[in-house]
Amino acid sequence: MRLRSRVYLHFVIALLVVGAAISVIFAVGGRGGLAREIGERVARHVASLAGERLGDRGALVARLEQLHADLDLDVVVRDLDGAVVAAAGAPLQRAAPEAIAAARGGAVVARPGPRPFAVAPVRDATSGRVVATVEVAAHRRFGPPALLGPLAIVALLLGLGAVVTRPLARRLSRPLERLTEAARRLGGGDLAARVPVSPLPRRWWQRRRAPADEIAELTGAFNDMAERVQRLVRGEKELLANVSHELRSPLARLRMALALVPREGRDEARLVEAERDLAELERLIDDLLVTARLEATGLPTRLGEVDVRALLTALAERARHDPAIAGRAVEVGQAEPVVLVADEALLRRALWNLVENAAKYGAPPITLSGVRLGDRILLAVDDEGPGIPPEARGRVLDPFYRLDAARTAGATAPSGFGLGLTFARRVAEVHGGTIAIDAAHREGGVDRGCRVTLTLPSGDAA
Ligand SMILES: Nc1ncnc2c1ncn2[C@@H]1O[C@H](COP(=O)(O)OP(=O)(O)OP(=O)(O)O)[C@@H](O)[C@H]1O
Ligand SMILES: [Mg+2]
Repeated sequence: MRLRSRVYLHFVIALLVVGAAISVIFAVGGRGGLAREIGERVARHVASLAGERLGDRGALVARLEQLHADLDLDVVVRDLDGAVVAAAGAPLQRAAPEAIAAARGGAVVARPGPRPFAVAPVRDATSGRVVATVEVAAHRRFGPPALLGPLAIVALLLGLGAVVTRPLARRLSRPLERLTEAARRLGGGDLAARVPVSPLPRRWWQRRRAPADEIAELTGAFNDMAERVQRLVRGEKELLANVSHELRSPLARLRMALALVPREGRDEARLVEAERDLAELERLIDDLLVTARLEATGLPTRLGEVDVRALLTALAERARHDPAIAGRAVEVGQAEPVVLVADEALLRRALWNLVENAAKYGAPPITLSGVRLGDRILLAVDDEGPGIPPEARGRVLDPFYRLDAARTAGATAPSGFGLGLTFARRVAEVHGGTIAIDAAHREGGVDRGCRVTLTLPSGDAA
């Protein structure tokens, strides 16, 4: 359950319990007290009315009958020996001896329930002495305590409480929700994600501004952390970009110098090798620079409509003439006539990295394909080589990670830096897409070959 709902529920339950307790106390306690009070007064009044007619038994009976008829009371007047002097209504059971003793002493004793009952002293009109006692009992004509009214009031108050506490619960949970959201964004790579902090306002009863509460402290700590992480990452990126940039000019000078060296016999072969190394270094620096740019801006700059079939055909054509691919068969397989919105240069470079990988680490035939799947376009490069084991598929996407086979096969190992797939992934991501590594197909339960797929949104182009 969400924190907000939990806080809210606790409030409502607490209110409910308090409300119920209060209404029970008032209903029971108040009623009992009131009934006793009324009982005492009625008994005293009946006693004084009876006292006036004590001398005349006939008149006394007539008066009691009248009381019985008017007030619906059962009444018995007894002398001090306990003998009945006059009675009206249903016969009454004798009161408890203590009650009678108290009445003879001049006190009125009332008992609110189960049937309201009271004993009162009857005094002689002239002397004021207690000469008899009167016992009065009412008929309980009213039903169970009238709870409907109080219950309605309690329900109303509860409803009011629920409405009033709702924003309170929201206020408690809202900062936490904002923190979660910011943490998610930070984790997702948005290093600028911060939680807005508004200092607690000074209320009129506070002399100073209230100190930050725990959630505000947590928010502050989070923002500090995000700030440091962002500064750190920015520093690293700047360093990388600067180093890459600074490396370019000496490399260009080296290339110029190499071109001017006279070429004869064995030197020629060495120079060609040196030039190849230089070209590779330049490619690394290019990849680093473009990746750094993509990291910094997040968006490819030159979006346009890309004809997928034309792009794949051009790549296959380029492979046919590229010495690095060295005559390995590169074909265009299934290529639907689809168009997507993308930065064509970036996409071409990402796919070329995949073709190079297939030639370096895989085996021909190398197949390029492009198909539409809903609103996404799947661009894949397949080869029939050993593939990448499932446990390494995540890691080869990390910068500078290469499989052991690619690193330790000595001089025959294909050269590389471990950046090609990282670059391809970044290109997929800046287009709002993903990269996936699978086997090209399965034969008898065994993975065969390698397939790297870029899944990109087709964008606005239909
Ligand atoms: N088609 C493939 N078949 C088998 N292994 C592959 C394939 N493609 C990539 N790999 C493995 O993944 C690793 C990472 O590939 P990635 O393209 O990122 O780097 P690289 O090719 O080694 O160097 P770079 O591309 O920077 O020149 C490679 O070193 C290789 O071990
Ligand atoms: Mg590569």
